[in-house]
Amino acid sequence: MIITVASFKGGVGKSTTAIHIATYLASKRGKTVLADGDLNRSVIQWAERGGKSVPFLVCDGESIRTDYDHLVIDTAARPTDYDLAALAETSNLLVIPCTPTTFALEATIGTLTTLPTDRYRILLTVVPPKPSREGEKAQQALKKAGLPVFKSMIRRFSAYLKAENAGVPVNQIRDPKASEAWLEYEAVGKELWKVAKK
Ligand SMILES: Nc1ncnc2c1ncn2[C@@H]1O[C@H](COP(=O)(O)OP(=O)(O)O)[C@@H](O)[C@H]1O
Ligand SMILES: [Mg+2]
Repeated sequence: MIITVASFKGGVGKSTTAIHIATYLASKRGKTVLADGDLNRSVIQWAERGGKSVPFLVCDGESIRTDYDHLVIDTAARPTDYDLAALAETSNLLVIPCTPTTFALEATIGTLTTLPTDRYRILLTVVPPKPSREGEKAQQALKKAGLPVFKSMIRRFSAYLKAENAGVPVNQIRDPKASEAWLEYEAVGKELWKVAKK
């Protein structure tokens, strides 16, 4: 299976999402490669920090390895309509992370007008904790606009920053919220597996 992660705004958890989807696929579904197609090479540097603790293979976007069951691609930020259509064509599903903020939502809703809705699914990320209702409100707004959105949302946890620094996925971090955080990406993985197999 090929899963492509793309977003219209930087800093919305695109690389974090690619890393955790790859972690899910590697632990539950088979040999997984994550291709870092972004110019900043965040995933490659992250994997260098983590070394052997990284549960999947990482390569760059130019020389994609072919020895995998599943491929996850972290794309360069801000794809054009044309890029997006091409990415959708070559992957089982496009995952579009988006924070529940007006700028990110506007960028996402405004850009996704031409892509068939069965080719992608929006994932709300860095969702503020309760009592904030921003996550639910954003989910409603996206649904109202007719856009497909993951049922599971990814909340904001400082465990992700620890994981980023250590070069490992959040399920390898010692943090009171690490397992809660991991459960959310695991739920995304399960949802994605169902949708993308169709
Ligand atoms: N759910 C989250 N909770 C808290 N911090 C997060 C979360 N997701 C990502 N981050 C942090 O936000 C920053 C941007 O995330 P990143 O995945 O690098 O975004 P992008 O690839 O879209 O630029 C990173 O420091 C990352 O660790
Ligand atoms: Mg990134």
